[in-house]
Amino acid sequence: MTNHSSVFTGQARAHTNIALIKYWGKKDPDLFLPMVSSLSLTLSAFYTDTRVSFSESYTENRLLVNGLEQTGKAKESLDRFMSVIGSKMEHPLPIHIESFNHVPTAAGLASSASAYAAMTGAIAQALNWDLDLQSLSRIARRGSGSATRSLFGGFVEWEKGTDDLSSKAIPIDDGLWDVGMLALVLNDKEKTISSRDGMAKTVATSPFYPAFVSSQDSDLELMKKAIKERDIVSMGEIAEHNAMKMHATTLSAKPPMTYLSPDSLRAIKAVQDLRNSGFTCYYTMDAGPNVKILSPASQQDDLIKALRQIFKDVTLVKSQAGPAMRYLSDEEWQELY
Ligand code: DP6
Repeated sequence: MTNHSSVFTGQARAHTNIALIKYWGKKDPDLFLPMVSSLSLTLSAFYTDTRVSFSESYTENRLLVNGLEQTGKAKESLDRFMSVIGSKMEHPLPIHIESFNHVPTAAGLASSASAYAAMTGAIAQALNWDLDLQSLSRIARRGSGSATRSLFGGFVEWEKGTDDLSSKAIPIDDGLWDVGMLALVLNDKEKTISSRDGMAKTVATSPFYPAFVSSQDSDLELMKKAIKERDIVSMGEIAEHNAMKMHATTLSAKPPMTYLSPDSLRAIKAVQDLRNSGFTCYYTMDAGPNVKILSPASQQDDLIKALRQIFKDVTLVKSQAGPAMRYLSDEEWQELY
């Protein structure tokens, strides 16, 4: 914490994550308690650096992302999160936030997960909170569900829990072995429904949603076993099935919707074909058209070469297991920005 005439500042870095067992649906939208537990891999290639400052002289919360002032939904989400933070402060103060997303240009992979995980870390440093990563994961959860998992590195479970205290992240495995995730960034500019709105509509209207929920615990247990055994084939089979069960709930919502674009389907087919030709590769997708490919890290370069034949001008980004949230010092921040 730095205190220049009652300005409290803090900085942190957090990496984004991709779920192998999906979070989809809230039981309690206020506390962000999910309907299901989930499990993700924190990614080395994508992260957010965030600096926050609290001051009596500020009149409102402000958020700059890559230099651009955020308004609309992003600002609403921040104000809502800050009311949670304010309830933990003796004298709540407005906050100013500067955030930098480190994702390849135009990748469209900026994520609320790394954003709220980094923001939570920076706030903890500014306010001198002596909390462990698990306690911070419960706070980040109130900003965005997937942020719960981005406090830790490697494979991370978000245990759904039953209340504010028990809904938290648990590190499963550091992921520092031959496993990787390739992001296939499809140049699809079409605006999609946010995951927040998409999951709410699905829970309310899809007759398939209960089926997704009822098979989640066994998917999660099988995934944890496969990770422990470093069995990428089983991990991939479970991840594909789990992802498509989630996407089936959006297709069966009323009115129906989907995050899969024609190019997503082409990419899925390409992954299946590459698998038939001997690669160990499996796909997963979130609330957008991009496809992420799980494989041994040692196969990523060859996969990129093969995918390049099919997708001439897409961006392909290699990731391995990324680290946990870490605090940045004033000096580091000055050097970086
Ligand atoms: C499909 O965490 O973005 O990526 O909690 O409303 O902020 P909110 O939603 P968000 O949802 C992520 C959904 C997902 C699956 C996952 O990451 O587990």
